[in-house]
Amino acid sequence: MKVMLTGANGQLGRALQELLQQEPEVTVFATASKTSALEAPFPVTVLDITDKEAVRSVVLEEAPDIIINCAAYTKVDQCETDEENAAKVNEDGPRYLARAAKLVDAKLVQVSTDYVFDGKSEKPYVETDETNPVSAYGRTKLAGEKAVMEEWDKVFIVRTAWLYGDGKNFVKTMLNLSKTHKELSVVMDQHGTPTTAIELAKMIWFIAQTSRYGIYHGTCEGSTTWYEFAKEIFNVFGKTVLVHPVTSKEYNAAANRPEYSVLCNCRLNKETDYRMKEWKEALQDYAEWFQKKGGK
Ligand SMILES: NC(=O)c1ccc[n+]([C@@H]2O[C@H](COP(=O)([O-])OP(=O)(O)OC[C@H]3O[C@@H](n4cnc5c(N)ncnc54)[C@H](OP(=O)(O)O)[C@@H]3O)[C@@H](O)[C@H]2O)c1
Repeated sequence: MKVMLTGANGQLGRALQELLQQEPEVTVFATASKTSALEAPFPVTVLDITDKEAVRSVVLEEAPDIIINCAAYTKVDQCETDEENAAKVNEDGPRYLARAAKLVDAKLVQVSTDYVFDGKSEKPYVETDETNPVSAYGRTKLAGEKAVMEEWDKVFIVRTAWLYGDGKNFVKTMLNLSKTHKELSVVMDQHGTPTTAIELAKMIWFIAQTSRYGIYHGTCEGSTTWYEFAKEIFNVFGKTVLVHPVTSKEYNAAANRPEYSVLCNCRLNKETDYRMKEWKEALQDYAEWFQKKGGK
């Protein structure tokens, strides 16, 4: 079976490469944007998913069985002032991939986000809940979901949240700040679920081998706030940092974020026996993996 990864040098892309390397039946064809290709830990072919013709010809040539799109414009605040480019990567690229997937009858996994919701709910969002993004990032990711569903049937949409793995992320930011700060202020009024890239990769790989197409929520189990998450990171990594809670208003980021974006993995839990780990357990695994890698 041939699996094509796009954006393979991002956090999720790297986790999938690690995971799929252990699958004897799988050949991975990994692609990444030009810049990321230069520093990739695994060999990659250059493919910009916003290049319609390149996407078409690469997919026709490689004829993968499954395409997993890990490429995205993920800088949430930057999207506010660069929505046009964000839409190219988060909407147009996925559309081209879906069209190309249809040409070779490949399944497509499109990864999406909790930020498609407005965060006004008081209970975990289910897959069928109404979307209403409050940021440019959320709008472009929602447009990406719609685009792939318009183009092709054999599509899985997996919405995840607060992702961290091998790359820039909240955990690494906290660990870096702990080297220079004894006290930090962290947002306490946004609720969500930290999810490791490896837990997401495993879930995606499980679901991609089925024919149960459609929308899934795929986050670790449980929920927390950024403030509580930061405290747990320092606890697990043995750092002494005093964390102060601040409101989103005080923090004043460029993009609005949903106050409550906890996702229920309802469909996964109802229709399959696959379960994602609890977020604190996944954080422990991450700490072990991080230390094995020499803390980089
Ligand atoms: N990170 C989170 O907290 C989070 C939360 C919810 C959902 N998600 C979703 O989860 C998925 C994976 O996120 P992630 O954290 O792994 O993202 P990431 O680490 O930022 O990786 C995204 C990758 O996409 C590549 N890329 C960007 N533009 C591209 C283009 N035009 N063509 C090909 N590749 C391109 C980037 O490469 P360059 O930067 O080198 O161009 C980067 O390697 C995304 O769909 C994201 O929206 C993430």
